[in-house]
Amino acid sequence: MIILLLGCSGFIGSHLLTRLLKKDNYRIFGWDLESKKIDHFLPSKNFYFTQADVLAKDSFESLKKQITDVDMVINLAAICNPAMYNTRPLDVIKSNFLDVHQIVDLCATHGKWLIHASTSEIYGRTLSSYYNDNYADKSLYILKEDQTPLVMGPIRNQRWSYACAKQLLERYIYAHHYENSLDFTIIRPLNFFGPEMDYIPGIEGDGTPRVLACFLGALLNNEPMYLVDGGRARRTITSIHDAIDAIEKIIERPGVSKNKIYNIGNVNNEVSMKELAEKMRSIFAKLYDNADYLNHPIEEMDSKIFYGEGYEDCDRRMPDISLAMNDLDWSPKILINDILEETIRYYLKKHNKL
Ligand SMILES: NC(=O)c1ccc[n+]([C@@H]2O[C@H](COP(=O)([O-])OP(=O)(O)OC[C@H]3O[C@@H](n4cnc5c(N)ncnc54)[C@H](O)[C@@H]3O)[C@@H](O)[C@H]2O)c1
Repeated sequence: MIILLLGCSGFIGSHLLTRLLKKDNYRIFGWDLESKKIDHFLPSKNFYFTQADVLAKDSFESLKKQITDVDMVINLAAICNPAMYNTRPLDVIKSNFLDVHQIVDLCATHGKWLIHASTSEIYGRTLSSYYNDNYADKSLYILKEDQTPLVMGPIRNQRWSYACAKQLLERYIYAHHYENSLDFTIIRPLNFFGPEMDYIPGIEGDGTPRVLACFLGALLNNEPMYLVDGGRARRTITSIHDAIDAIEKIIERPGVSKNKIYNIGNVNNEVSMKELAEKMRSIFAKLYDNADYLNHPIEEMDSKIFYGEGYEDCDRRMPDISLAMNDLDWSPKILINDILEETIRYYLKKHNKL
């Protein structure tokens, strides 16, 4: 099986590559802007890497040639950092729709199966949050791939640039399926966590990465963990290993997984961001055998100050994962405390702090 893997050096891409290269039956043509997380794979006999922007004019020409040789395309390349959704909305819309729609066109032209990573953010805010029913009615917040309406805020809340661009790309993929028989599978990830997610601010880079890396940075740099808008937003945290199991099964079961949209998440791991911060400082206390960490400062911050004007959050993301469970014979197994402990331990060892 020959796979074109776009975004192969990202968080999900590097874990997927690790899994697929363990097997002899995959040859991977990988593309990414950088190779930091996958340098150790560069000599592998079944891996051919191109370091380039897939959408730059000259590299797109080589991509066009390469696509004719592969069995499927997996697209993980995107800007997907919440700190950029309202501060660099044009880049976000270009990366998640305007540029990438050309990859969808190529797959349709050449009859290649496209497995595309979308996002659970396309559900937007729950209906419960508008009806203010305190989540009494499950049908107003459980997210079902083919039933739940996609509810986003006003245009001035530019935070929705990412979700909206991802949604339009899903519609574009589906339109190609409808008009040109494109085979596709769309994955909607629900907060995958694990080693090598983003970078630790102040240690591995600057800026504002996703929440796991922000909290880790705060704990390692002895700074407060900031809860945006009270840390009330709720997320279902999924181990990257469970997620990669699901993606591998999608690849290996085309008979059932083609032309479907899958929520990939773990319904047993729901936490508010406040609970997540508390759990992470308890794990620090346990790993260092130091109860002082239990009092590591957690402070609230208005989203306008943390992310800038135009920020608005999805309140809750509780997926229905029955389609993935039934089709793929898959169920997520790793519980949140184990996911956090594995990840924190990994970074502490990486930076010689344990
Ligand atoms: N990790 C999650 O929990 C999660 C949640 C929702 C959606 N997703 C989606 O899954 C996909 C992968 O997510 P991730 O967490 O691995 O992100 P990531 O940022 O770690 O990886 C994305 C990779 O794509 C590369 N890339 C971006 N634009 C490129 C371009 N034009 N040419 C070549 N390479 C390019 C980046 O260098 C990076 O290595 C994204 O589409 C993201 O929106 C992930």
